[in-house]
Amino acid sequence: MNLIRGFIFDLDGVLTDTAEYHFRAWKRLADELGLPFDRQDNEALRGIPRRESLLRLLKGRSYPEEQLQAWMERKNNYYIEYIHQITPSDLLPGARPFLLEVRAAGLKTAIGSASKNARLVLERLEIADLFDIIADGYSVERQKPAPDLFLFAARQLGLEPPECVVVEDAAAGIEAALAGGFRTLGIGSAARLGTAEIVLNGLHEARLSELLGHYNRSTPRIENDALPGRTMVDL
Ligand code: BG6
Ligand code: MG
Repeated sequence: MNLIRGFIFDLDGVLTDTAEYHFRAWKRLADELGLPFDRQDNEALRGIPRRESLLRLLKGRSYPEEQLQAWMERKNNYYIEYIHQITPSDLLPGARPFLLEVRAAGLKTAIGSASKNARLVLERLEIADLFDIIADGYSVERQKPAPDLFLFAARQLGLEPPECVVVEDAAAGIEAALAGGFRTLGIGSAARLGTAEIVLNGLHEARLSELLGHYNRSTPRIENDALPGRTMVDL
């Protein structure tokens, strides 16, 4: 059995809630293009890369590549405009204390985010120095739900996938982690993240010793089959 030696954190929705800024940026583009787009549509884009998000917004209609690139750039410019407002107070409850606890325990930490803006957001949150490595939207070709980004992060940390817990708020992210053989911690609703080994409402509910107690005495396959979506109380 592998003992846990590192945590790989998704960024958007786990450490900070950028979904609102993504929503405003996509909504602005959608309004300009005369396309319908609401908060529910935005929820479905959680963890989904920029290009795939645009294709979903366009509802399968095809356009020349240069046009797609121009719209992606326009949306990203809006997004960057919004995330400049981010300050350390935008860290989600429990995020910083949990990161500090993980590092104080001698475990490694990584970012595994599909976003090409991850470094900018980490700088705005003033937590870039709390990570040994940053894997982002530039690190690999195939994005979540492919396991590539997390495999890249684990390799950079010098760890094997079963030695790492992937912390994710998106179904596509949990799928990616499971496909790579990682341990999983879902953040958000159990309905969305039911395939994760453990699901919490936020990192404010995370107790490192209890989490390690769980991961270090079990194997993922058995736990996934037997107890999908356990909460902290169950541990
Ligand atoms: C993910 C977000 O973290 O990054 C998605 O959950 C986003 O909503 C994706 O589309 C890509 O981000 P960016 O910043 O490169 O457009
Ligand atoms: Mg996310």
